[in-house]
Amino acid sequence: MNKIICLKGDGIGPEIMDSSIKVLRSISKDFNFEYELLFEDFGGVSIDKHGEPFTNDLKEKLNNADAVLLACIGSSKYDSAPVRPEQGLLELRKYLNLYANIRPLKVSDSLLSLSPLKPEIVKGSDLVIVRELSSGIYFGEPRFYSDEEAYDTMRYNKKEITRIVDYAFKIASKRNKKVTSVDKANVLASSKLFRKISIDVSKNYPDVTLEHRYVDAMAMELITKPSSFDVIVTSNLFGDILSDEASVLGGSLGLLASSSFSETGISLYEPAHGSAPDIAGLNIANPIAMISSMSMMLRYSFDQDNLSNLIDDCIDRVLNEGYYTKDLDNENYLSTTDWTNKLIEKIQEVKHEYII
Ligand code: IPM
Ligand code: MN
Repeated sequence: MNKIICLKGDGIGPEIMDSSIKVLRSISKDFNFEYELLFEDFGGVSIDKHGEPFTNDLKEKLNNADAVLLACIGSSKYDSAPVRPEQGLLELRKYLNLYANIRPLKVSDSLLSLSPLKPEIVKGSDLVIVRELSSGIYFGEPRFYSDEEAYDTMRYNKKEITRIVDYAFKIASKRNKKVTSVDKANVLASSKLFRKISIDVSKNYPDVTLEHRYVDAMAMELITKPSSFDVIVTSNLFGDILSDEASVLGGSLGLLASSSFSETGISLYEPAHGSAPDIAGLNIANPIAMISSMSMMLRYSFDQDNLSNLIDDCIDRVLNEGYYTKDLDNENYLSTTDWTNKLIEKIQEVKHEYII
């Protein structure tokens, strides 16, 4: 039986997780996809109940699981608390050795009007951000905080850079055959190594083009010529920043899904957005990034390509028909549950095209 650990987390987490599970339950039987869901505490809710964001009990359960579906974590309530929900997320990524974070972004023509950029600029944008997730300044030692001084360490070794860049080249070789490696090699030593190794790795992929960008220039080009990129590979922090920037090309951070992979273990699927505490419980959150993350799980952890295609296509169709959540259209919008129900209706309507 496919065992899926579901972590609703904080803020809008429970609402969007419920949406994605409702979608899964509505269609899994038609594809003979059998699974077991285990709902566990993680993040702020776990701190409140168990005193820590990522418990040993959850660690043990992960050892017998096949995939992890996470909604989102975080709340300003923990801003000056000794332990924050985000710490749990970093520990979880570390615990599962998740080094490759994949954040794909595709702007379909019918959604051009939702973008804050001019339609002629975003038209045709179809890119994947490959973010290194297990190292860099997020984990580097030493790190220190006092009220007088504080520091972090941006550290990368050859093995870590090689495997993430290689991952990016593998994806690019199945796509448009271009990798843009993003660094700050004019200033940072860790970036200088990142650039050198990306050139070394590129020699194994003669049909894929490698180009380099400094992260500051990249931040600009992502909004001036987003359609010129295919696969973007970068370090943990730069990838975090650039993926939020890229997400709004499509109109909202609420659309960007992500998956995180290790070399051999189980994978984690989570939206790229945070827990949006300001709108929690209002039934107005956008569930699309969460549902798309669930769809990635079906594809990459369970080989359910047809089911995943059905869900992805129906998300597009419902958006194309003009049904939006509040983040996409502040005036004319559906609630989280109504949008989810529209999607489920659409899936039922067209499922026969995908069941073989
Ligand atoms: C993300 C988030 C996390 C990160 C936070 C919540 C720790 O912003 O997944 O992009 O910085 O990686
Ligand atoms: Mn982020």
